Amino acid sequence: MAGSGPRGISTVGVIGAGQMGNGIAHVAALSGLSVVLVDVNQAALDKARATMTKNMDRQVAKGSLKAEEKDAALARIATGTEMPMLAECDIVIEAATEREEVKLSIFRDVCKLLKKEAILASNTSSIPITRLAAATDRPDRFIGMHFMNPVPVMKLVEVIRGIATSEETFDAVASLAWKMGKITAVAQDYPAFIVNRILVPMINEAVQTLQEGVGDIRSIDAAMKLGANHPMGPLELADFIGLDTCLAIMRVLHEGMGDSKYRPSPLLVKYVEAGWLGRKSGRGFYDYSQEPPAPTR
Ligand code: NAI
Repeated sequence: MAGSGPRGISTVGVIGAGQMGNGIAHVAALSGLSVVLVDVNQAALDKARATMTKNMDRQVAKGSLKAEEKDAALARIATGTEMPMLAECDIVIEAATEREEVKLSIFRDVCKLLKKEAILASNTSSIPITRLAAATDRPDRFIGMHFMNPVPVMKLVEVIRGIATSEETFDAVASLAWKMGKITAVAQDYPAFIVNRILVPMINEAVQTLQEGVGDIRSIDAAMKLGANHPMGPLELADFIGLDTCLAIMRVLHEGMGDSKYRPSPLLVKYVEAGWLGRKSGRGFYDYSQEPPAPTR
């Protein structure tokens, strides 16, 4: 049975069925909420369902989930390519490609369909929440809900208040994050918020360190794993996040802060232009056609 969530939230819409969208849908469904997952691309939806099934199977194998809970959760997730499917949602979490024009066009379409009281949240890594909110009919019911990758594993949700976000919206979203088993960190709406303001310039510096030949891929990652106790090296992590997403975040920081210390590394730009986007494209700083993935230089 679909449980009723915090402050009347029982149905969650998710727009974008990529790496993040499928994780958000997975966790929302397992917490008893009904989920509507929408993407423009049917292949992305098929892949998302396969990924959610595989990840839940893994939880069942580990003993942290019962097989019947998995079946019930998967049955609570409706998928489709048509935006009107979202009309009855109490909250819609947008997790589409990190391009402002894409997100603005989604919000224009979805606002026409949603109930007046429905909340709109964006999982953007870096685009100002206040600017996105101002382009909608509901700036007081608009908020940043920034999940971490992979969503089923990572505990944190950064909740970002836009300048007009109401207390009621903030409370509803904080309770929803809690119901989804997450811990929140509250951020104000400044470029890249908290996590990426600190993390992505470090990744960019690692790419610049590679570009300057200070170290090779293996040495840079080993240095930060074994020397700074990071669970993943910065280049490995960049491949995991997606190099296009890392570049988009650096550009937002560079423009938003007006400080040359946030200049994207030219090597990062070159990799993105080559289509070497990391794990999702099969090649980034590592080559994922090999097992285990091998450094490319
Ligand atoms: P992705 O590239 O894996 O997935 C994006 C999905 O959006 C694709 O399936 C695409 O078909 C879909 N899409 C594009 N235009 C659309 C439209 N008009 N309507 C519906 N769907 C559309 O990207 P990913 O990594 O899942 O990122 C999504 C969002 O989450 C971005 O805003 C990103 O900055 C943010 N994010 C990413 C993290 C990461 O580690 N990759 C971490 C936290 C946030």
